[in-house]
Amino acid sequence: LFAGPVEFLKGVVAMQGLPSADRAEVCFAGRSNVGKSSLINTLTGRKALARASNTPGRTQEVNYFTLGESHYLVDLPGYGYAEAPVAVVAKWQALLKSYLQGRSTLRRAFVLIDARHGVKAVDEEILTLLDKSAVTFQAVLTKADKIGARDRDKVLEQVRAALQKHPAAYPELVMTSSETGDGIATLRAIIAGIS
Ligand code: GTP
Ligand code: MG
Repeated sequence: LFAGPVEFLKGVVAMQGLPSADRAEVCFAGRSNVGKSSLINTLTGRKALARASNTPGRTQEVNYFTLGESHYLVDLPGYGYAEAPVAVVAKWQALLKSYLQGRSTLRRAFVLIDARHGVKAVDEEILTLLDKSAVTFQAVLTKADKIGARDRDKVLEQVRAALQKHPAAYPELVMTSSETGDGIATLRAIIAGIS
């Protein structure tokens, strides 16, 4: 689906470090532990791609991956962990804001939501920032294997309702599991279709 290498390119800590804006770019956002690294690995078919570039406790970086030569996949640090020092959070939020508002080739943000929990208050902050930045976002539910069919319907309904008040929300939701591979081909095709 993606012609060319799928690999970790670099971790970026300031806007000046971004690679040249020469292709379509999508970013992944989500609260800590939502399953972001697992999803990136499953999506790319590379077992340790995301984990390899992710050093917990270090400066929070914006991690760039290549999806062939046509797309960049950008892994944003997980939000919502209580232990992060105030100064680190503030610096990160400033970079996030500059990135979302200033990256001309950013086509869509995928916001990962744990299927067991739905949209939480901590997610609302980033959704509002995406609205303000006019970055279209699409919700991706993760860990679908952890709940039954009835609860899946329920969470889809909750997420749909929560997204109603966000003008930047893309209406189609994707339910995924990195464990079973559910929804992965769909998500891959969605990304490949973005230009
Ligand atoms: P941070 O980088 O720490 O913010 O977390 P993350 O969002 O990258 O989550 P990660 O992929 O590391 O997954 C967190 C935990 O959830 C791990 O124990 C994973 O094995 C588990 N997990 C991730 N995705 C799935 C899934 O689809 N199904 C199940 N059952 N477990 C999952
Ligand atoms: Mg991770």
